Amino acid sequence: MNTVIVGAQWGDEGKGKIIDILSGKVDCIARYQGGSNAGHTVVVNGKEFIFHLIPSGILHRSAVCCIGNGVTIDPESLIGEIRGLAAARISVVNRLKVSSLAHVIMPYHKVLDKLREGKRTHRIGTTGRGIGPCYADKVNRCGIRMIDLLNPAVFGEKLRDNLREKNEIFRKVYRHPGFRFELIYRQYCEYGRRLKPYICDTSAYLNGAIGQNKSILFEGAQGTFLDIDFGTYPFVTSSSATSGGSCIGTGVAPTKIDKVIGVAKAYTTRVGEGPFPTEFEPAFNDIIRTKGKEFGATTGRPRRCGWFDSVMVKQAIRVNGITSLALTKIDVLAGLPVIKVATAYKYKGKTFKDFPGDYDALCRSVPVYKELKGWSETPVKADSYKKLPVACRDYISYLSDVCSTDISIVSIGSGREDTLFI
Ligand code: IMP
Repeated sequence: MNTVIVGAQWGDEGKGKIIDILSGKVDCIARYQGGSNAGHTVVVNGKEFIFHLIPSGILHRSAVCCIGNGVTIDPESLIGEIRGLAAARISVVNRLKVSSLAHVIMPYHKVLDKLREGKRTHRIGTTGRGIGPCYADKVNRCGIRMIDLLNPAVFGEKLRDNLREKNEIFRKVYRHPGFRFELIYRQYCEYGRRLKPYICDTSAYLNGAIGQNKSILFEGAQGTFLDIDFGTYPFVTSSSATSGGSCIGTGVAPTKIDKVIGVAKAYTTRVGEGPFPTEFEPAFNDIIRTKGKEFGATTGRPRRCGWFDSVMVKQAIRVNGITSLALTKIDVLAGLPVIKVATAYKYKGKTFKDFPGDYDALCRSVPVYKELKGWSETPVKADSYKKLPVACRDYISYLSDVCSTDISIVSIGSGREDTLFI
């Protein structure tokens, strides 16, 4: 059984935890897009792990983890994660495979990311990890791939070509001194030497595993509404975070995918700029942010919070082909007398049930809410769904009805044990 895990909102839905839980039942986990802009938090026996590049399934010692060709890799960040795992006595030897075709984040990508943000009239609020400029080079056909780091002559030639053009742009457009070849060349050749044991043809590996009836979990980073095509463009990331990206980003065909699990928070959050129709008023935002510890795992930035938006999640279900939802952080809503769910938008006097593709319409849309009764407390340890308060179960079943989809997993806390299967 091959399953894609995808975020149904703006990322940070709690995919790391769901992937960690489901990883115990699969042979391989493959990350298919994004880079170290992502931050997946997993808590095991009270110890917190934050992953940016390595799939969170690495914590299950029998699983093989692949970083697919669709991912952009900052070698320094990857080496740091490998080191962090080694310090926790988790070995990645023979369990971590990195696509030779994945593109490499270079120092000039990170600097350009920040300089471009500074020049924009409307900032995107990027993570500053060089993601956009790296994907832009990939599409511009001047990117550097992991395999290039293993061949110093080829790497040197590509780096020289890049610096020739980029340094001119840095100096003339951004008044930045530019980058010296020698320093980057030496550093990245060293990264290549250190990462060599992991670099391989991950598409061949994954297809071989499927041929042996092994099961794969495809790990999406970010979320549907940060997808370069289906997200709230231009306030999006630069890759295909939706389930279709799993095929392009790993070299496994769509015919091999069996199901797609969407992960959605019981409310909504967003980091960075861009429209957010169900966003809370500032004072209430602060309360939920504190209660839900809503701060970015990568940048520590405060997340913006709002009500669950079924208009968005239904669109996510459609574009990803989501077969069931995992609902996370339901415990954060305990103690509220009333909980709201957006069921439609009003724009220019008309009511819309579909998520608008038009940026202006999205900015001006006013949500139409259904109000539901809250519950006072979510049990700290609930070993069965039936032990949840009636109003909490009513909320979950309302979300299932309004989104016309099954909710198969409910998470009531950060630990592995705080997970209910329905
Ligand atoms: P970039 O991916 O760094 O270019 O950032 C583009 C947008 O995506 C910004 O609004 C970021 O805050 C957002 N973003 C990128 N990665 C994540 C993530 O893992 N979780 C939530 N938001 C993200």
